[in-house]
Amino acid sequence: MEPVIPDLRGSPRAEAYARLLEMQQLLLDDSSDVIAGMATTSALLHHAFGHLWTGFYRVVEPDALLRVGPYQGSLGCQEIRFGRGVCGTAAAERRTVVVPDVHAFPGHIACDARSRSEIVVPVFDHTGALLAVLDIDSPVLNAFGDADVAGLEALVAWFARAPYVQLPT
Ligand code: SME
Repeated sequence: MEPVIPDLRGSPRAEAYARLLEMQQLLLDDSSDVIAGMATTSALLHHAFGHLWTGFYRVVEPDALLRVGPYQGSLGCQEIRFGRGVCGTAAAERRTVVVPDVHAFPGHIACDARSRSEIVVPVFDHTGALLAVLDIDSPVLNAFGDADVAGLEALVAWFARAPYVQLPT
């Protein structure tokens, strides 16, 4: 049986992320499957923190288009163009974007009217190419800070691990 995801809402954020990183390693250490990685990482984060929406938008056209991938929560937008909204900004600029108040972010795409703050973290593969972005929406204003940036960047580092099976060159 898989371990139960702990409720980490009452824990200091740095400790909470350390715990989730351990669980992610336990669950995904033997895997090199990107979909399994996205699904498992979304589930861990979503249920540990009680977010509104937690999931991945995958790069389906480099430098042009993101499409929704594994996620937890209510329905998300299907596709987002690079440069549009918080996800498209993080993808185009290849950097983590923290939005303390989504109503103050010009161009924010409202998939769920309850969303109040958001963080989007770029996800790179082992070659350094942008694979996806991890998007988290919260119903609470100013829900994300430095500990979230550090913790989430550590979790998405899983996707940059060298693949186990190297194809012959
Ligand atoms: N709010 C995001 C769109 C994605 S969803 O909220 C799931 C954005 O502005 O990029």
